[in-house]
Amino acid sequence: MTSVRQRPKSRCGPAGRPPTVGPMADRLDHPLGVAVIGPGFMGRLHARAARLHGARLIGVAGSTASRAQAAGRELGTAGFADPVALATHDDVDVVHICTPNDTHVPLATAALAAGKHVICEKPLATGAAEATALAEQARAAGLVGAVPFVYRFYPMVREARERIAAGALGRPHLIHGGYLQDWLLGSEDTNWRVDEARGGRSRAFADIGCHWCDLVEFVSGDRIAALAAQVHVAIPERRGVAVTTEDIALISFRTEAGAVGSAVISQVSAGHKNRLHFEVAGAGAALGFDQEAPDHLRLSDRDATHLLTRDPDRLTPAAARYSRLPPGHPQGYEDCLVAFVGDTYAAVRGAAVDGLPDFEHAARAVRLTEAVLASAAGGGAWVDVARTPQAA
Ligand SMILES: NC(=O)c1ccc[n+]([C@@H]2O[C@H](COP(=O)([O-])OP(=O)(O)OC[C@H]3O[C@@H](n4cnc5c(N)ncnc54)[C@H](O)[C@@H]3O)[C@@H](O)[C@H]2O)c1
Repeated sequence: MTSVRQRPKSRCGPAGRPPTVGPMADRLDHPLGVAVIGPGFMGRLHARAARLHGARLIGVAGSTASRAQAAGRELGTAGFADPVALATHDDVDVVHICTPNDTHVPLATAALAAGKHVICEKPLATGAAEATALAEQARAAGLVGAVPFVYRFYPMVREARERIAAGALGRPHLIHGGYLQDWLLGSEDTNWRVDEARGGRSRAFADIGCHWCDLVEFVSGDRIAALAAQVHVAIPERRGVAVTTEDIALISFRTEAGAVGSAVISQVSAGHKNRLHFEVAGAGAALGFDQEAPDHLRLSDRDATHLLTRDPDRLTPAAARYSRLPPGHPQGYEDCLVAFVGDTYAAVRGAAVDGLPDFEHAARAVRLTEAVLASAAGGGAWVDVARTPQAA
């Protein structure tokens, strides 16, 4: 075991949340009943993760009744024509919202109002005021609202967080990296995310930049205080339709603790499929992570660079907890989602879970998105995140 000391019980997650009371409380010693709304890429992963944790899939709902029926047959559950009827169904304890971004607020609002715990995909909302209101609704109701910032659940991410908290780098002075994809590189490539009415005014930043910011804030324990951003539409027309949402976002930032940093966010970078990477550097050392090689962490000082390998016997307890396979047997993205769902269900049952990304973190990500858009609209001017004009 390393000599790194264990992080004290964290500020993150719903620790301190009052135990669930009211109509849900007497049912939580049973297998959780769950609903999945939006059985696309993420919805199918959520359904599988829910079942791995022993939940009962009460039903799925899609954009049309026939799609819901087809998904229900494929997933071996009921297909609901009406997503709200499923979200508020008596047998449902937890609603997983995996639909396009513009539907998150009405669905999450209805589910919380019906006393359901909610896992809602990011971005929680396309506006900060709505995201903040949802966080407040969940808090006031004593319900869990969780958002899948799943990259937090890599064991080596937890290891980086523990080591930084233990002072392994000295005081961090530089945080940098990026999130690069190439799936929207061609002018024939499109998706509902490109359409501002469905995805929101920001695309690259709201879709993937929010993951990067959440991850580096989580790992460093620091927060972005002010940022300056540029956004760029590299492909002005897709399939003949004018594009208004950015393909690329660049940010420079200052943190609350006095570090500086930058990130390049792009969905049009050839050769990069899902390259979320960061480095946190201090006077003593630097730690680097790349989610395309997530079983490793690069630890450098001036003399040498070490490649730390995921080996539960050698990790801090907080990281070993997420290491489910023996070393050398790669863990990946889906393992992160499974771990996230497991932690969310533990929180639903009343446990204090360290590092669970909740609706407050989700609302912060939307505020950062608004700060990026405000800065870019002002020609790249510095924007104080707490004072972003549209932030609630
Ligand atoms: N956390 C992550 O790592 C991660 C990764 C990918 C996507 N996401 C998020 O997950 C959400 C879904 O993305 P995806 O890639 O799975 O999209 P997708 O297009 O693959 O799936 C969307 C699903 O929602 C259904 N749908 C559309 N409108 C609906 C409505 N009004 N009611 C019910 N169902 C409806 C569609 O039929 C489809 O099944 C998005 O918010 C996205 O940002 C998160």
